[in-house]
Amino acid sequence: MTQSVLVLGGGIIGLSCAFEAARRGFKVTLAEPGKLGGQASGAAAGMLAPFTENGEQPDSFFRLCLSSLKLYPEWVRAVEECSGLAVEWEQSGSLNVFQHEADVLPAEGRMRWQNDWGARAELVDPAALRKLEPGLSHEAAGAVFIPEESHVYAPKLVDALAAACRRLGVTILEHAGEIGAINVGLANPIRGDRVVICSGAWTTSYEDILGISIPIHPIRGQICSFDSPEGILRHMVFSSQAYWVGKRNGRIVCGASEDVAGYETAVTDKGIGRLTRATDRWLPRLQGIKPAHSWAGLRPATRDGLPLIGPITRDGEWIMAAGHYRNGILLSPVTAHLVADMLEGSLDAKRQAAVAPFAPGRFTSR
Ligand code: GLY
Repeated sequence: MTQSVLVLGGGIIGLSCAFEAARRGFKVTLAEPGKLGGQASGAAAGMLAPFTENGEQPDSFFRLCLSSLKLYPEWVRAVEECSGLAVEWEQSGSLNVFQHEADVLPAEGRMRWQNDWGARAELVDPAALRKLEPGLSHEAAGAVFIPEESHVYAPKLVDALAAACRRLGVTILEHAGEIGAINVGLANPIRGDRVVICSGAWTTSYEDILGISIPIHPIRGQICSFDSPEGILRHMVFSSQAYWVGKRNGRIVCGASEDVAGYETAVTDKGIGRLTRATDRWLPRLQGIKPAHSWAGLRPATRDGLPLIGPITRDGEWIMAAGHYRNGILLSPVTAHLVADMLEGSLDAKRQAAVAPFAPGRFTSR
């Protein structure tokens, strides 16, 4: 008999889990309290940058991120084919610019292990950097170029996943409010044989129902975009103050703050001001131009910085996939595959070991 799965949360992780579970033949319902992709997923710049964003060491988290990047070609193909919508995946490569000669040595150290993991990273001197990215400030003392890194248009990926889910017969309950979120397991008409919690920064609302500690808290990311003269940015650019990503609509997205502000999603002059000052400095052609848009999302951060992926009840009836913090867009395919394997009971020993560091049960029960 077909098992039913209830996915709680319609951000990128919930939609991806629903899509993969439906592809594997489960009967899926997804309940989102608000708007699909309305929180961190909609606010994201869509960077798929495991080397640049997690550059310290090839630990289990880096390996999870890299394995997800490797799934992207098939993932994008499947989502686009099933939905008929483009997600604007740009294989732009990334440039991590530095200001001082002293930054070269640590960058070379990182590049050594990154290249062992397939980054094909290269050190770019100022003259070569001017050719690669003419719109960048001449202040740069160089950059690390990583051709493997890319980006998608996160709101379009959300829309395409939602359309693909619907095509596969997933019932999507948008604006389901607390019915879909908090009251599951009590007197709730929306049910599944299995439940997957993908509620991002709101996952803590299940602590009482489940009787477990869920150490996830919101970290606000303020972000803005500039209307840019055509061709101003060819790569994703990272600096120590901000990052910039050029989208097909001619906008340059610039992010992002990391503020502790509870569940507040308003932007502040301070947060956006820091981004505009960094933009003035690194992209001189945008000097003095005000952002066309500014917005914020709440990243789901965990106490140890690692996501929570795995069963949360002994029988495996409830699974959690949350706490992806800065890497939700990147980690969505691997999370969806892992969750679908857990639903099927087909996770092999190697993958069980790979996902063990992210087990939600690593935090003591309350
Ligand atoms: N991954 C980029 C950010 O969280 O700002």
